[in-house]
Amino acid sequence: MEEGLMNHITLQSGHTIPQVGFGTWQVLDSHCTQIVLDAIKIGYTHIDTAQRYSNHKDIAKAIEKVPRETLFITSKVWRDDLSYQGVLTQVDQILDELKIEYLDLCLIHWPNRKYDIKDTFQALEYLVKVGKIKSVGVSNFTIKHIQETLKVSNIPISVNQIEFHYKLQQYELLEFCKEHNIVVEAYSPLARGEFLEDERILKLAQKYDKSPSQILLRWLVEKNIVVLPKTSQKSRLKENLSIFNFQLSKEDHELINSLNENKRIINPHFADFEY
Ligand SMILES: NC(=O)c1ccc[n+]([C@@H]2O[C@H](COP(=O)([O-])OP(=O)(O)OC[C@H]3O[C@@H](n4cnc5c(N)ncnc54)[C@H](OP(=O)(O)O)[C@@H]3O)[C@@H](O)[C@H]2O)c1
Repeated sequence: MEEGLMNHITLQSGHTIPQVGFGTWQVLDSHCTQIVLDAIKIGYTHIDTAQRYSNHKDIAKAIEKVPRETLFITSKVWRDDLSYQGVLTQVDQILDELKIEYLDLCLIHWPNRKYDIKDTFQALEYLVKVGKIKSVGVSNFTIKHIQETLKVSNIPISVNQIEFHYKLQQYELLEFCKEHNIVVEAYSPLARGEFLEDERILKLAQKYDKSPSQILLRWLVEKNIVVLPKTSQKSRLKENLSIFNFQLSKEDHELINSLNENKRIINPHFADFEY
């Protein structure tokens, strides 16, 4: 990868995270192995997966020959067992499947009030202590969930991974995270492809001589948000990574701010809490 073309952000844990990561939800089997191999060849070092995605073993095949210290690997424990022992067991399984010794970042994929968050975080604290996890974070946590967690956790919450794109701009949550030095990661940063026919985005793309996806990802990184675009197409990998060599004008950045529709795309049945 060309020098200067990736930005890194320092987390509360003291570790740094590349600001673009490759999202791997719904990428499976040999296709997953191949696209992760392609992504690494093109310059991605940050890979986002989860226990729930069922692709750890496919990713393991892609990273087995890559020096571990050059990669930033995130996985997530699933919400169906966030007990102390449940978290330890899940992380051991994740490491086993990925064939690695540690995760750079381990997230709680979704909150679950059935479990005491204090137990969950004590398990994560132990895993940091024994070197199986470098940084700890959460995903899909609201302000209330984070407040509850901050009260009982002895380790920093480095990250909150949430749905954030031009149609869902969660500013209250973003500001709260900033105040607590929690880095926000945008999942579905491309609104799952819903931007492709948006004339306003297409017009901006033309103006900057960039692709629509580059405009949307650039807008997010300008807010100090980490982005996790997913693509199953090799031809789009480079495009989604090449967002550090231009800048949106203040007016155009604000123009995208004005397109918020509070439109949530990911809304599973168990997300029964108020956002
Ligand atoms: N924590 C959570 O609960 C959670 C939830 C959802 C997602 N995530 C993470 O966030 C990642 C990304 O989110 P996502 O997969 O929901 O959606 P996304 O990245 O917003 O969008 C992916 C869609 O955009 C298309 N696309 C990608 N690059 C493009 C380009 N340059 N031009 C045109 N279209 C393009 C893809 O099609 P092609 O594949 O055909 O290129 C795909 O249909 C996931 O893979 C996962 O790692 C986390």
